[in-house]
Amino acid sequence: MASRRAVNLSLTLLLLHLSILLSPSASEFGQFCDAGVGYGESACGVSGGSSKILIKGGTVVNAHHQEVADVYVEDGKIVAVKPNIKVGDDVTVLDATGKYVMPGGIDPHTHLAMDFMASQTLDDFFSGQAAALAGGTTMHIDFVIPVKGSLIAGIESYEKKASKSCMDYGFHMAITKWDDDVSREMEVMVNEKGINSFKFFMAYKGALMINDELLLQGLKKCKSLGALAMVHAENGDAVFEGQNRMIELGITGPEGHVLSRPAVLEGEATARAIRLAAFVNTPLYVVHVMSIDAMEEIAKARQSGQRVIGEPVVSGLVLDDSKIWDPDFITAATYVMSPPIRAAGHDKALQAALSTGVLQLVGTDHCAFNSTQKALGIDDFRKIPNGVNGIEERMHLVWDTMVESGKISASDYVRITSTECARIFNIYPRKGAILVGSDADIIILNPNSSFEISAKTHHSRLDTNVFEGKKGKGKIEVTIAGGRIVWINGELKVAPGSGKYVSMPPFSYLFQGMDKADAAYLSSLRAPVKRQISTE
Ligand code: URP
Ligand code: ZN
Ligand code: ZN
Repeated sequence: MASRRAVNLSLTLLLLHLSILLSPSASEFGQFCDAGVGYGESACGVSGGSSKILIKGGTVVNAHHQEVADVYVEDGKIVAVKPNIKVGDDVTVLDATGKYVMPGGIDPHTHLAMDFMASQTLDDFFSGQAAALAGGTTMHIDFVIPVKGSLIAGIESYEKKASKSCMDYGFHMAITKWDDDVSREMEVMVNEKGINSFKFFMAYKGALMINDELLLQGLKKCKSLGALAMVHAENGDAVFEGQNRMIELGITGPEGHVLSRPAVLEGEATARAIRLAAFVNTPLYVVHVMSIDAMEEIAKARQSGQRVIGEPVVSGLVLDDSKIWDPDFITAATYVMSPPIRAAGHDKALQAALSTGVLQLVGTDHCAFNSTQKALGIDDFRKIPNGVNGIEERMHLVWDTMVESGKISASDYVRITSTECARIFNIYPRKGAILVGSDADIIILNPNSSFEISAKTHHSRLDTNVFEGKKGKGKIEVTIAGGRIVWINGELKVAPGSGKYVSMPPFSYLFQGMDKADAAYLSSLRAPVKRQISTE
């Protein structure tokens, strides 16, 4: 039986090898391989696996349930989930006995091929996604940056960038200025382009930053469109002041980055955004929650019944700021991101908040700049491009930090790495579930196997890795994306152009009942008061 399975798999892979060599995209793919992405020969020749796959005997984990069952996949979809599924010889069979079979990760926060701080992030929609697949993430949502404020020009540029995708992806849209055109274009994004979330940067003064007046306009527009407002919450004016203070003190190295934007500024902006969202009565999503200060504001708001989502990122969950003080510039600069990675203690508090439901899902903020790019800030920390990696490491690190340590269950793991993201962005249960009819985006994790992270072996184009040397238990041995085996036996089998854009409709569950809250607000006003002029 085992040898028949092996023959089936080899035959299928051979056929796919031949078909990709004959396909029109083969030369383009060859170009990527020549460019030295380092995925080995198999990556250059094989586009995937059989369209029929049976995963046998694993523990199938969903966000609210787990059971031992087989999973049968055909033409990119999950067709059956039940014990003892029988199949014919044309099916690739994967034995998952003793392993977990879970929905592929969905990363809600990435920046692939993003023009930022006089550079462009090194991982594009092929290399970043290939890295993601090797780490068990099968979909990501990237932030479109408008071109000179134009959302249409922005999305056109990102549609081009994403044409080489090898896994499914969606878009958020940043809002960087406000006028009638932007307001109209937001409607186009939601009604025609499948975007249901807009990000407002409260920091990066002089570049992406918006003010409170714009944020209010944006929140109102998001509410009317059923789109989720997202904030990068740091007080950008105060950060600017902090940066000048550091430069005046002669602190020009990477530590100046951390010292110029303390957690209190993240807490203040988080509180402000939360209060403005409450004033407008619209849901709010706080990206990259890095500090206790911001987390506690989210906890307070949720306790009061406000719909606020908090997203920690893997760097904030498992790292502390110690490397920022390293005497080697590149080592320290590698860890520069905003909001900064905080002092020890914040990481553990964010983990606890995640395990108790104060924070809901984990992203990466994957924003890859290599040593040469980081060196742009050798004389001035303000010029170090902000951003760290995580797209490939998130699934392993969250399993090891949260599940292996006993903080959360396997079902919770599925919820915070996949299902909750799918629900928030309104694509559940197509994504984020192992259910009949869901997309066949699946991982097989061996809890008894271990991983070790290194820039020498990762699939990103980066020459550094902020998680260098981290080891843990729980290895993702297989990734299936869109019904194709794309990661198996430590090998990637990906082809540019095989990923699909996932359109995300507005009015997710976060908007349900908001109209009732609006009606309650209006009736609570006891106004306008009908008055008459007294005749006495
Ligand atoms: O340092 C970061 N976070 N870079 C990416 C841009 C952002 O703020 O999300
Ligand atoms: Zn941000
Ligand atoms: Zn980001």
